[in-house]
Amino acid sequence: MSGAIGAKLDRVDGRAKVTGVARYTGDWGLPGLLHAVLVTSPAGPGRVAAIDVDAASQTPGVVAILTHENAFPPPVEVEAPGAEGVVPDSRTVLRSPEVLYAGQPVGVVVARSLEAAIEGAARVGVVLDPRPPQLDLEGSGVDGIFAPKSIYGMEPPDSERGDFERGWREAAVRLDVRYSTEWEHHNPIERHTTTAVWEGDRLTLYDSTQWVNGVQDDVAAVLGLPVENVRVISPFVGGAFGSKCETWPHTICAALAARHVGAPVRLEVTRQQLFGLVGGRPQTRQRVRLAASVDGKLMAIAHDSLNDTSARGDFVEPCAVPTRMLYSCPNVVTTHRLNRLDIQTPTYMRAPGHATGTFALESAMDELAFALGMDPLALRLANYADHDENLGVPWSSRELRTCYERGAQRFGWERRNPELGSQRQDGCLVGWGMATANYHTLQSPASARVKLTADGRAEVRCATLDFGTGAYTALTQVAAEVLELPPDRVHIEIGDTDFPWCPIAAGSQTMASVGTAIALACQKARQELARTGRREVEVEARSEPTREKKWSSHAWGAQFAEVQVDPELGTVRVTRFVGAFAAGRIVNPKTAHSQLLGGIAMGIGQALLEEDQRDPRWGRVVNADLAGYLVPTQPDVPDIEVILVPEADRLVNPLGVKGIGEVGITGVAAAIANAVFHATGKRVRHLPIQIEDLL
Ligand code: MOS
Repeated sequence: MSGAIGAKLDRVDGRAKVTGVARYTGDWGLPGLLHAVLVTSPAGPGRVAAIDVDAASQTPGVVAILTHENAFPPPVEVEAPGAEGVVPDSRTVLRSPEVLYAGQPVGVVVARSLEAAIEGAARVGVVLDPRPPQLDLEGSGVDGIFAPKSIYGMEPPDSERGDFERGWREAAVRLDVRYSTEWEHHNPIERHTTTAVWEGDRLTLYDSTQWVNGVQDDVAAVLGLPVENVRVISPFVGGAFGSKCETWPHTICAALAARHVGAPVRLEVTRQQLFGLVGGRPQTRQRVRLAASVDGKLMAIAHDSLNDTSARGDFVEPCAVPTRMLYSCPNVVTTHRLNRLDIQTPTYMRAPGHATGTFALESAMDELAFALGMDPLALRLANYADHDENLGVPWSSRELRTCYERGAQRFGWERRNPELGSQRQDGCLVGWGMATANYHTLQSPASARVKLTADGRAEVRCATLDFGTGAYTALTQVAAEVLELPPDRVHIEIGDTDFPWCPIAAGSQTMASVGTAIALACQKARQELARTGRREVEVEARSEPTREKKWSSHAWGAQFAEVQVDPELGTVRVTRFVGAFAAGRIVNPKTAHSQLLGGIAMGIGQALLEEDQRDPRWGRVVNADLAGYLVPTQPDVPDIEVILVPEADRLVNPLGVKGIGEVGITGVAAAIANAVFHATGKRVRHLPIQIEDLL
């Protein structure tokens, strides 16, 4: 073994990025490239009564304008046929005058320069017959509240074990509380961008995405092309956090525009448009009931979650999923329900369900601890689950207890005075709060190709993505380890559907899935070299996760927050944060540290700042830019300490790795809300926590 796994290797793509050599989707210079700008509906829902393109088409430089009247040859089905897996926003775009949500693309202006396209788009006159939008999650919605079919095809929407009513009845202490969270948008620095190039009936897309193979399938389905006629290229992606999991309508619009004008077209979604046509994290309303004995043993848990989705799409924010297994409890029921509103289809945002659900559950645990007069950490330990009681199987590994211990020790938790408002510093109330972090470990089939060259190098190719996570680097380390080569002898290329198929770079599953495929391909290449005696070999391998659920695998963590609350201004500042995490084998402690740190910073945003605000009359997000939509910046983020707790896992997968992209954000909002309660005695049950809540 070369010791490549576990080394704090600098990013192998770092030099290319800082020197500008790395090409993001907007950087590809193609001969004859034209520029497209979207025209989006200022309100929704409604119907386009008229669309006036005369002034726009006379704008110098404008080459073409696409609307529902000319984007598809008639007759147009309202939705693309055979496109069930595609987000409905992309199945329906530019097919009819129907507007389902504010911000839906209703036209595309193509011009010789970006400036001309912007000007042309501004001159398109859209006459809309709007209808009042349904935006109240607790209202009747479009169809009434309903249960989704499943959670991402992986779990049932509801779960039940034991007898909740009995546990509830027999308990000494009962808590029945409701939490809410608001719409959020991911806002990666790289806005969604697509460049489309046609050669005959073959389409090449440069697309900022988390899944080139997914875009390939979706675009082929929507445009009625054979999958092999679509190639998607995306070697560098400037952030995503889940916002680039789906094929959003702009990608379809770019492909249509390029076909229409017979030239390569680049389409960049503006920051403002992103809030309208890319999904964000849905709103949630969560009811949590906890019942316990006097000594804090959980006797009953119920977690009911409701989130909004679009008029056509079923997106579940699976808030109650972690509640099914996080603590030992004989009687647990969970439900997930949806309500259709007049919005774009919501989507995955870093730790979907786990980030929002742990806010509710871990706040409720804090409330229970307070009601019992128990230390919040002691309450977690009193209910430590020694196996997965939801699935009835052992953990593949669970160093959560060590996370609690190491995090608490580093933070100084034992010095916490349980009395509310008892700690003060610099005229501020100081509060300490904690929460458990958790994200399930996923693994999908994946494939990779490895070539060993005569001069002692390895070339690795596969279709996965690195949207800033460090996948380039960590996957290089896996290959170096198995091949016993120094990492600088390994060259990796990713982000192209011409490379072997990979699953979506989401759900924190890339290391477990693609890492395993690369390890397998490297082992196969070594065997091939030995068997054939050749100087060069090239092999491909596909890895499959085990289908049997003989154990349960999750990444774990313990989050500890200190806040200062100004009693006169109601402002909250996070002054210290310690997160201790166990996530199996850590391939690169440096990139892992960055992922966990970034997760915590994003959790600070979720707790205190981030919220889409919609105009109730027109349905559109009104704070649709980085001045109005607040994200944490340097002064909002304290020194965050991330502790990597060693965790050996021989079962989860051959590499023993779990994901680290999402666990970092989970529990953060609860730890902060719990700290705010400790500081002020005010229990804030909705996010983001705002000044008004504390005055
Ligand atoms: Mo992540 S929200 O699964 O990209």
